[in-house]
Amino acid sequence: MRFAIVGLGKMGASILEGVLAAELLSPAEIGVLDATPELTRQKADRYGVRALAIDQLAEAERVLIAVKPQDFPALAPQIAHANTGYLSIMAGVATRVLAEKLGNRRVVRAMPNLAATIKRSTTVLAALPEAREAGDLAFAEALFATVGTVYSLPERLFDAFTAMSASAPAYLAVVAEALADGGVRMGIPRAQALRFSAEVLVATGELLFSKHPAELKDEVASPGGTTIYGLAALEARAFRAALIEAVERATRRGEELGQG
Ligand SMILES: NC(=O)c1ccc[n+]([C@@H]2O[C@H](COP(=O)([O-])OP(=O)(O)OC[C@H]3O[C@@H](n4cnc5c(N)ncnc54)[C@H](OP(=O)(O)O)[C@@H]3O)[C@@H](O)[C@H]2O)c1
Repeated sequence: MRFAIVGLGKMGASILEGVLAAELLSPAEIGVLDATPELTRQKADRYGVRALAIDQLAEAERVLIAVKPQDFPALAPQIAHANTGYLSIMAGVATRVLAEKLGNRRVVRAMPNLAATIKRSTTVLAALPEAREAGDLAFAEALFATVGTVYSLPERLFDAFTAMSASAPAYLAVVAEALADGGVRMGIPRAQALRFSAEVLVATGELLFSKHPAELKDEVASPGGTTIYGLAALEARAFRAALIEAVERATRRGEELGQG
């Protein structure tokens, strides 16, 4: 067995779907293990992959750990094997802790985001040297490329990345909802207002691949026009400062949780 996934929740299932859709591996090369034998069987059948019992994980060349961080300490001793490469997406669990609990230094830590469910995740990776040498990092790059884009990032910046990228769908969902509320306040029907705000967020994101944010803003804000009045209102409410502070506070919270 080339690859096993432990924990087939939202993220584990999205990654499995990505791998199968991209034909990175065939279903016969993949095994899965979820919280109970019934759930494992059901989910394995849904994707046509192998349903595993915990003692069969030793057969896998590489294992993706996609359970919640709080489930890891009890799970680790049961899935620890000497000749396996481990990939983890657990938020806040450092490579040092993974290596210690698994008794194995072939570990790659990945931080994807919820957009993996639509193959638009931005994923960062950090690996211990042993995982690089064994080809686990290269495998992880190919794996996460099936659900979006992949970058290397020093592990000390993972909390900052989580705060500005992995958490950002929540911030931007608040922006979308507030924009729609503004539209509704001015008389636009709710359903249309929500649709308009979703579309403009996507379109702005696409434009930002080819334009600096300041350039884009300046193009929309004509002298004495409507947008500059809107921007002035945002500045008066310290909108930018609030986002900068959100990233800083979320980073600090990530650091606290990582120590706990
Ligand atoms: N969601 C995100 O946006 C996101 C982004 C980046 C990273 N992550 C990380 O990804 C991981 C998974 O998140 P998620 O949102 O996919 O969570 P989730 O939907 O709760 O998935 C976790 C899965 O693991 C199963 N599980 C629990 N204990 C297990 C065990 N001992 N053995 C095997 N399977 C077990 C759970 O089953 P039950 O539900 O039956 O307990 C569930 O199916 C977390 O560590 C999280 O930090 C999530």
